[in-house]
Amino acid sequence: MSKSFPHRHLLDIERLSSADLEAVLDLAKRYGEQNRSSTRKSDVLQGKTVVNLFFEPSTRTRASFEIAAKRLGADVINVLVEHSSARKGETLLDTVLNLDTMNIDAIVIRHPETGVPHFVAPQTKASVINAGDGTGEHPTQALLDAFVMRRRKGSLKDLTVAICGDIAHSRVARSNMHLLNKFGVKVRLIAPAYFMPKNPENLKAEIFEDMAKGLQGVDVVMMLRIQHERLTEGEFAVSLKEYHSRYGLDHKKLKAAKTDVIVMHPGPINRDVEISSALADDPQFSVIREQTEAGVAIRMAVLDLLLH
Ligand code: CP
Repeated sequence: MSKSFPHRHLLDIERLSSADLEAVLDLAKRYGEQNRSSTRKSDVLQGKTVVNLFFEPSTRTRASFEIAAKRLGADVINVLVEHSSARKGETLLDTVLNLDTMNIDAIVIRHPETGVPHFVAPQTKASVINAGDGTGEHPTQALLDAFVMRRRKGSLKDLTVAICGDIAHSRVARSNMHLLNKFGVKVRLIAPAYFMPKNPENLKAEIFEDMAKGLQGVDVVMMLRIQHERLTEGEFAVSLKEYHSRYGLDHKKLKAAKTDVIVMHPGPINRDVEISSALADDPQFSVIREQTEAGVAIRMAVLDLLLH
């Protein structure tokens, strides 16, 4: 446990202080520069073992945790859940207790049920990192988003950030709202009523159902995909075409924002649903690939801080 990061686990953004968040962002800046140089590898985590335990699909998060751990000299094991004893009826707790006997140092866990990383953490000697739990949180995603915003805009201070799309089912939105609120960023939520969280008046955010109004003068737009895997029957009753025409971001709708606006998306993107394909690929506005790149630096910083 590092003095500058007094936590054994990274379970959510909600319980971190702005100093904790700064510690991750500052160290990630160093790793981000190192990752763009020819000397990307170091041995700061030599002898440590990181286990990736993903009960839901992932491309960016799983790969970047593996790359991050290997860049720091750690050994990485990917437990392939579909080929594991979970398929033979072993409980999640037994899986974790068995991994724990192998003297591992970190478990990076993604699970469709909210709260699973919090349940697992007290059961193991390893550090537990939440890589996305149901509709709960996705803390390293919010950290990498903040990293890109800070790099592009100089500072988070005085920014207005619009989060748009399926906010109700989004752990990315939840982690980002916690983080942005801690830095005093003005947050706007733009969504149809069926994708707005319950009791939005309790959130520290301005609420918009009209996308054109919500985008007026914003510095950052964060688009979210529709979380089809978390929808209940009848919850989403419009066609994707109709949804795109009202809530899909394209160059025309983006004109309402500031001229130097940046467009973010955690991925995976669904082209021409929540974002037009042309805008997703437009380097004048889109920083989506930069977000993926930043994921490695943020996860290196998190592993470094937790495992020392
Ligand atoms: N943003 C994100 O979590 O992507 P993956 O699902 O591919 O990990």
